[in-house]
Amino acid sequence: MPWPPKCWASWPSAARCTTRERIATLVSLSLTPLHLERIQAVHLERDQIDVEGQAVLFQTGLFAKLPHDIPETTALAILDVAGAPAQTARLVQPGQTVLVIGGGGKSGTLCVYEARKRAGPTGCVIGVSPFAKDCERMRQLGWVDHALQVDATDAVAVMNAVATVTHGRLADVTINCVNIQHSEMGSILATREGGKIYFFSMATSFTAAALGAEGVGKDVEMLVGNGYARGHADHALNLLRESPALRSLFERLYA
Ligand SMILES: NC(=O)c1ccc[n+]([C@@H]2O[C@H](COP(=O)([O-])OP(=O)(O)OC[C@H]3O[C@@H](n4cnc5c(N)ncnc54)[C@H](OP(=O)(O)O)[C@@H]3O)[C@@H](O)[C@H]2O)c1
Repeated sequence: MPWPPKCWASWPSAARCTTRERIATLVSLSLTPLHLERIQAVHLERDQIDVEGQAVLFQTGLFAKLPHDIPETTALAILDVAGAPAQTARLVQPGQTVLVIGGGGKSGTLCVYEARKRAGPTGCVIGVSPFAKDCERMRQLGWVDHALQVDATDAVAVMNAVATVTHGRLADVTINCVNIQHSEMGSILATREGGKIYFFSMATSFTAAALGAEGVGKDVEMLVGNGYARGHADHALNLLRESPALRSLFERLYA
């Protein structure tokens, strides 16, 4: 959601800041007190709304100055999921097999791109989406080795599909970026023993993940999707600056 769409915020104070900057809060709007006076427009296609109102930003709250070289709605879309590519960068090592479940979505696309960079030419990046159009787009962008058209909630199908393309090795690192429930088990089954799973999806159930891994006797490291990593906003915006293909896709979808 673009926030604030019309108002200008100065920081840290007028006395210390001669120019007024447009900023975006990096704290989830689900924990930012909002006083909304009017909803101006709902943009279903880019998951954003324009509103009039006020947000309460606490002193400890993270924020980023909106860049001048990227359209505002595109920057806001990127900043919404900036933690995902930053955490992917930390987790993926050269030569690894990386599975991105929900790889056709907003955070998923950034993670696929980041995983490709980090895993390098000897690594293998696998994207999963149940939709043919998303798989086709993943292939066209060229950062995945395999785009698997599988429903993430069908755990056995995800495992079998990943096992087939990895010759039974499964994924070293799995990044879960879906927007639906019940995908924990597919992530667990498709990850190798000793591998890592980063549950960025807010639909993740701690209970399903913890009991699921225990239930199938899978010793995997599971990470809660902390949306914050130091420097994550700049990191994510820089991905757009370095990749014309990524920038063109995000500008087409979110500008
Ligand atoms: N941890 C954090 O700090 C943080 C911050 C922001 C967001 N999130 C969460 O991250 C998740 C992804 O956010 P996003 O903005 O990237 O969402 P998004 O753009 O909607 O991406 C989610 C993707 O999952 C796909 N999908 C839907 N059903 C699926 C299925 N059964 N199997 C596989 N893929 C499926 C969606 O396809 P369609 O779009 O075609 O349905 C979409 O491509 C959400 O749960 C969001 O709440 C977490």
